[in-house]
Amino acid sequence: MKERNPASGNTGKKAAGEAAACLVEDGSVIGLGTGSTTAYAIREIGRKVAEGLDVLAVVTSYQSEMLAIEAGITLTTLAEHPDLDITIDGADQIDAEMNLIKGGGAAHTREKVVAYSSNEFVVVVDDSKMTDKLDHFVPIEVLPYAKELVMRYVQELGGEPQLRFATRKDGPVITDNGNFIIDASFGVIDNAEALSIALSMCPGVIGHGIFTDVADIVFIGYEDGSVKRLDIP
Ligand code: 5RP
Repeated sequence: MKERNPASGNTGKKAAGEAAACLVEDGSVIGLGTGSTTAYAIREIGRKVAEGLDVLAVVTSYQSEMLAIEAGITLTTLAEHPDLDITIDGADQIDAEMNLIKGGGAAHTREKVVAYSSNEFVVVVDDSKMTDKLDHFVPIEVLPYAKELVMRYVQELGGEPQLRFATRKDGPVITDNGNFIIDASFGVIDNAEALSIALSMCPGVIGHGIFTDVADIVFIGYEDGSVKRLDIP
């Protein structure tokens, strides 16, 4: 099963998350993504807050809300602060053109909203997430009422849809927004933008995990603790 426990220790994720936290400036309003790599950034920002850093944060999930509160970071909302200075978030896969697949934690709909609300979108990953071409399944958040329609639509696009089931709860995963997740495998994705647009057009799709043309900076962490920073033009 996929590792999602920030406390279990992962040098590459930790290195990337903590490096990104250094970009957060005093007085800024920040977006906080979801996942184990972002969790390292949240904890590091919390340490800086304890030393006097003044920030407000918009979270993207119950997970990031709980972590941010635990870290002592003051929360705000997009209603109060619609323009964010910087957002830090993880990814499940990144291709050579810096297209992302997100949604392993089923938080991608809010993560995309926050990414698009942010002046700078910083992605934190370990090196296992980097690939030449995307081939990870695409998480799609769907209105439960539209599950069958979206499944059929994915098949018509050449994908294999699978409803995501919960662990330690019977039945499907229910997102923080009260919806289902369909994980759709498309094999190698040659045109991420075209697939992104096609998926967005299906009624009942709330949000999908393909993020194109949104990353500004990517921090890649390695098992030896080193970090590579990529600035995307
Ligand atoms: C949550 C996400 C995560 O950022 C993505 O799944 C990466 O998670 P992790 O840092 O735990 O590998 O998109 O919806």
